[in-house]
Amino acid sequence: MKRIGILTSGGDAPGMNAAVRAVAGKAMAEGLEAYGINYGFAGLVAGDIHKIEAADLDGVIQRGGTLLYSARYPEFAHEEGQLKGIEQLKRFGIDALVVIGGDGSYHGALRLTEHGYNTIGLPGTIDNDIPYTDFTIGFDTAVNTNVQALDRIYDTAHSHDRTFVVEVMGRGAGDVALWSGVSIGATAIVVPEVDWSMEAIANKIKHNRANGHRSNLIVLAEGVMGAQEFVEKLSEYGDFDARGNTIAHMQRGGNPTAKDRVMASKMGAYAVELLLAGKGGLAVGIQNNQLVNHNILDLFESKHDVEVSLDKLNEEISFK
Ligand code: F6P
Repeated sequence: MKRIGILTSGGDAPGMNAAVRAVAGKAMAEGLEAYGINYGFAGLVAGDIHKIEAADLDGVIQRGGTLLYSARYPEFAHEEGQLKGIEQLKRFGIDALVVIGGDGSYHGALRLTEHGYNTIGLPGTIDNDIPYTDFTIGFDTAVNTNVQALDRIYDTAHSHDRTFVVEVMGRGAGDVALWSGVSIGATAIVVPEVDWSMEAIANKIKHNRANGHRSNLIVLAEGVMGAQEFVEKLSEYGDFDARGNTIAHMQRGGNPTAKDRVMASKMGAYAVELLLAGKGGLAVGIQNNQLVNHNILDLFESKHDVEVSLDKLNEEISFK
């Protein structure tokens, strides 16, 4: 093996750059060359490919976003695009590929593997919704961004005796909401994985207010409903002077946390080790602080384990 290709795909996530740097850095340390593919699978098909020089990696571990750019490219589901992608890889003499992204990106990686092309997937998404890894690259940074925003919202909520419903990302998963909510002592965390009732939340707010608690913050996962819709439904149970806020794409930007940088670095170097051992078709993860790899196919047959006990914990310790 002489050349390793790297691409980032789907929604960007802070720490993707650290992963790209680790893959390229480890490849160079092993005497290999690293090639960057811009705009994910779209760039792969188009042949938007370039050699990565060591100096290109200066200062990237610090930065959010992805230096390789990203794209959602559902067209890669068609075999024609997959074969074209492999043709481009061969044209550049690239022997194996590391794909950094979420669920959709893993589908692309699996297709390449099925065509006999060695590919390793790294979990890069703020959503944390990938099976066989405790954490995905970008999740920790997104949660910390939310915590900063929620702390600020808390200040104004407290000054005005208000209730705020704050919608956070996560696609269909509640991880971002659960971690953000526990971190700020939310009155309630509403996620798709746990049954909840608007009436019970309204009663809790009434109880809190009657007991001198001036503000109430509800952290809502986007997979349940939008903040404004939630506020409207909540208002049917009483006047809480409620406001809806959406943190939205702010969660995807910013300098990655140390945890994301270190995790991405470990995973990136590990991906190269696997490829050097002649392995492909694998998804890298981290479980109980150990690097692990699983067949990419297994990921589609398993469900991501959401730490739903965080909701119970929050209910217990935020009881007012
Ligand atoms: O998968 C990452 C994510 O940020 C989700 O949390 C969110 O639902 C989605 O991407 C937003 O996608 P887009 O940036 O394409 O609007």
